[in-house]
Amino acid sequence: MCGIVGYTGFRQAYPVVLKGLKRLEYRGYDSSGVAMVQPDGLALLKKKGKVAELEEFAIGKNLASQICIGHTRWATHGEPSDRNAHPHLSQSGEIAMIHNGIIENYAPIKAELIKKGYTFNSDTDTEVLLNFIDDIKKENACTLEEAVRIALKRIVGAYCILLVHKDDPETIIAARKGSPLVIGIGKGEHFLASDASPIIEYTKEVVYVNDYEIAIIKPDELILKNLGNEKQTPFVQKLDMELAAIEKGGYPHFMLKEIFEQPQTIFDCLRGRLLPQENNIILSGIDKYAAEITAANRIIIIACGTSWHAGLVAEYIIEELCRIPVEVEYASEFRYRNPIVQKGDVIIAISQSGETADTLVAIENAKEKGAIILGVVNVVGSSIARLSHAGAYTHAGHEIGVASTKAFTGQLAVLMMMAFKLGYAKGTISQERFTQLSQELSTVPEKVAKVLEQDDAVKAIALKYADARDFLYLGRGYNFPIALEGALKLKEISYIHAEGYPAAEMKHGPIALVDEHLPVVFVATKDSFHEKVVSNMQEIKARKGKIISIITEGDEVSPTLSDDVIVLPAIDEIIAPLINVIPLQLLSYHIGIAKGLDVDKPRNLAKSVTVE
Ligand code: F6R
Repeated sequence: MCGIVGYTGFRQAYPVVLKGLKRLEYRGYDSSGVAMVQPDGLALLKKKGKVAELEEFAIGKNLASQICIGHTRWATHGEPSDRNAHPHLSQSGEIAMIHNGIIENYAPIKAELIKKGYTFNSDTDTEVLLNFIDDIKKENACTLEEAVRIALKRIVGAYCILLVHKDDPETIIAARKGSPLVIGIGKGEHFLASDASPIIEYTKEVVYVNDYEIAIIKPDELILKNLGNEKQTPFVQKLDMELAAIEKGGYPHFMLKEIFEQPQTIFDCLRGRLLPQENNIILSGIDKYAAEITAANRIIIIACGTSWHAGLVAEYIIEELCRIPVEVEYASEFRYRNPIVQKGDVIIAISQSGETADTLVAIENAKEKGAIILGVVNVVGSSIARLSHAGAYTHAGHEIGVASTKAFTGQLAVLMMMAFKLGYAKGTISQERFTQLSQELSTVPEKVAKVLEQDDAVKAIALKYADARDFLYLGRGYNFPIALEGALKLKEISYIHAEGYPAAEMKHGPIALVDEHLPVVFVATKDSFHEKVVSNMQEIKARKGKIISIITEGDEVSPTLSDDVIVLPAIDEIIAPLINVIPLQLLSYHIGIAKGLDVDKPRNLAKSVTVE
């Protein structure tokens, strides 16, 4: 949710920041802008639209500066426009600021400032915070750093802010609470960004800034302080990421690249953990809490969006294999509804970004009440990963396509390993079942590769239905969450209205939608519910719906009821979701492309939702 980049050093700063903004565009792309300190003051350039519009707009302008801050926006306060784009300039014209997050108590502060004669050029909360800082600086005749510290003590909400002052061509002041900030340490230069992707090209040494810390950054110096003005020791970490991982590598879109990476990313996730020959699964983070988890009275899974769908699959699997009651909660509901959380409850937080604001606050609340928090997170070092007592990374690598694909299968792989391990430890599954499930899970990378060979066939189906107005996705049991995920992917990427439903529940309402124009995708692979799903297909067929079914090889009945079929390799029903989702990802990708849409940056979305 908004990407921020900063540079101070010996290079020309604008090209570094512009490139960084392009890498962070997945976080928001309503507008973008930069501010540079130049000999005659601050130079601001900002433009509605994607970063490419800013780049175009900047041609021919004076871009010379060795210090620059830049922002790519996902609008919260105020429509996407040049006026609301960041950076903002303080009324005095002395300070420029960019912000990722939301200032919740901006209204009373704005009222105070208006009384003092301030006027505002935008509808943003950011401009309010900026003028508040400027006002404090003037009233207290203090440094910018001091003014930021005083201001932030009064701020409620989430922020990562970067500021530059017109008279200081070296220093960036940065601060964060709830929105991420990474600082890259170079020789005589520093880089700042919302994640490491703009930095990796220049240095692998980084510092993840903590909540309530202020950083004072010059080319040769990085000072970290807390809001009490006490110096903090920066914890320098080495990035485990390669530049190639954040480039398209010959694919036309990140989404397609990430779909095709899944045999490798799932393999990476299982590697060194799933050890079928040794009859063992090692999840070292979680092993420390094994006794508490097996003794838990219940598990609560907290997540949003696609990660929530992974949680639903986990609910079915954990209840089946471990006989522990599981509740799956939308983080945004859980955090506000005064839920009952008791000491010893186990919470699993699932998040690709590790920065989703609702999930973060929900687990903070649960942690305060004594719950054990396990994180299933993709981004290493992210806020949710750090807040969790223990956890397991999904190791899917950097996911840039806004619609989550490889992170989802990484989440499923981790959650399956957890469930197998827990069930075996509790004695609710036998050693034979544990071994069989482990062995089958190890075949997934190869089976996913086989599914991907059918890309052309899926594309042909996509072209056939790309003009449909609505889609229905149906599945039962372990495949019900996959139906939800298929529908979500289609909505995000193609803007076609799609609903996911339990196949049997469909006759309690959505069946009214069915006619000869409605494509209905059945996730109908062979499992304990298969015959029932076939009956549901009959019900759709009888009403002339167009049936696209995802089936298991050897199924001879489903094709007779279907208009189109995608045939998948056989696998245990518990593991099947990992494979069944792949054709649904491809289907939405190809429909989006057929409609001429930007599949990597669907409208209105952002990859990392750091506002509630
Ligand atoms: C869908 C998608 C979103 C995210 C959701 C949670 O493709 O990407 O629904 O799954 O915003 O994000 P994370 O997993 O980062 O917490």
